[in-house]
Amino acid sequence: MSHADSSEQFVPGSQEPSHRDPSKLRSARWFAPDDLRSFGHRSRLKQMGFDDEDYKDKPMVAILNTWSDLNTCHSHFKERVQDVRRGILQAGGMPVEVPVMSLGEMLMKPTTMLYRNLLAMEVEEVLRCHPIDSAVLMGGCDKTVPAMLMGAISADIPSVFLPAGPMLKARWKQETLGSGSDVWKYWAERSAGNLCDGDWREIENCIGRSAGTCMTMGTASTMACITEAMGMSLPGSACTPAVVAEHSRLAAATGRRAVELAWQDIRPSHVVTEQSIENGIVADLTIGGSTNAIVHLIALAGRIGMQLSLDRFDSISSRVPVLGDLRPGGRFLMEDFYNAGGLGALLNRLRDQLHLECRTVNGMTLGEQIADQEVIDDEVIRPRDNPVSASGGTCVLYGNLAPSGCVIKAGAADPSLLKHRGPALVFDNYAQLKASIDDPDLAVSADTVLILRSAGPLGAPGFPEWGMLPIPKKLL
Ligand code: FES
Repeated sequence: MSHADSSEQFVPGSQEPSHRDPSKLRSARWFAPDDLRSFGHRSRLKQMGFDDEDYKDKPMVAILNTWSDLNTCHSHFKERVQDVRRGILQAGGMPVEVPVMSLGEMLMKPTTMLYRNLLAMEVEEVLRCHPIDSAVLMGGCDKTVPAMLMGAISADIPSVFLPAGPMLKARWKQETLGSGSDVWKYWAERSAGNLCDGDWREIENCIGRSAGTCMTMGTASTMACITEAMGMSLPGSACTPAVVAEHSRLAAATGRRAVELAWQDIRPSHVVTEQSIENGIVADLTIGGSTNAIVHLIALAGRIGMQLSLDRFDSISSRVPVLGDLRPGGRFLMEDFYNAGGLGALLNRLRDQLHLECRTVNGMTLGEQIADQEVIDDEVIRPRDNPVSASGGTCVLYGNLAPSGCVIKAGAADPSLLKHRGPALVFDNYAQLKASIDDPDLAVSADTVLILRSAGPLGAPGFPEWGMLPIPKKLL
């Protein structure tokens, strides 16, 4: 079915209880027929202690959970899944929890990117092969977001994404610490001899203050914002911190909504369109999002047959102002963004840049969803007449080093670096860089351009995030 066809079949309003037809549920194919195979399906549910009242004539809602003891950002998912279950039961569905591969950035080697497509395949096949009417996708840490969305889009079974939510802000002495970016800053200070072992240890103890994803506008938060702008998660979900009471309520609401998605048969193909992906790009650019998002947006677009070129990002970037003053490029953290009104309030300031008619999983259009969202703090979410920058959230460059194109977050760079000439110091691979970066005889000056080869999809392999090269000790 083409996406043009499927959008015409979007039927809001069919959630009226009188319109609910259990025989149309996908799971009815497993459980309803009076035949030997269905007998087996029903009797084995009963083996697990379920009765007719648990599943008969009810949507079976899968909770795809990426919890793992080795995923540092999803440690609350073991409890949070109970809130999702609560919501599904409230709305008259049958919750079934299905674990899927967890991709935690911090402990997986060589890189989670090597496994993004594996999780996408797993999600797609898990959804397709089971008696699942709709799904709640519980992800958050960087690659889990695009992977789960890619799988759900390809399976095209009603789905709603529940982001893990960012960590709370961290404090050290008088400083507010941001995960990711401040690690690099204080590592450089330590390497320069400006930070004693005791201070370094204190930072290690407090920089990850709670469960949740990195609280800067890194890849996880960027992808959560893109997901909400694309209409695949409930309003407010992108910024709600992982451990506040609102996150539990969001989880229950997401569970309730998943039941309605099953009855209404609202599938990803009704929500994810070329226009909604462009809304995701606008969101990415106005929050000064992670450049990693481009790789994932291109992959998501590919799942609906959309060719998304780097030039498209460049042209949208030229008209979208950066309004979110968020680290690592800006000043504030995700908790500040949440308290300032969150993504919906920011997008409401950019209505003219968005496809407001796009449908979302909550049944409203994006325009309706953000209409009453107000900015509470103009420092964090800037007004249109005082943006962080008028354009250029992400810029695309071409040249002899990148004939097919590369991307740069211009706003995060010192303006003096946007035009630069200097000697190049080339490392052939990561091992060579690691072995020689702190060599006191390294041929490096403040003007040197550091280049790391063999760091792409094939070379590393898997396209790890090695772009943040450490500053050579000699310069520190
Ligand atoms: Fe999981 Fe940053 S390490 S979101």
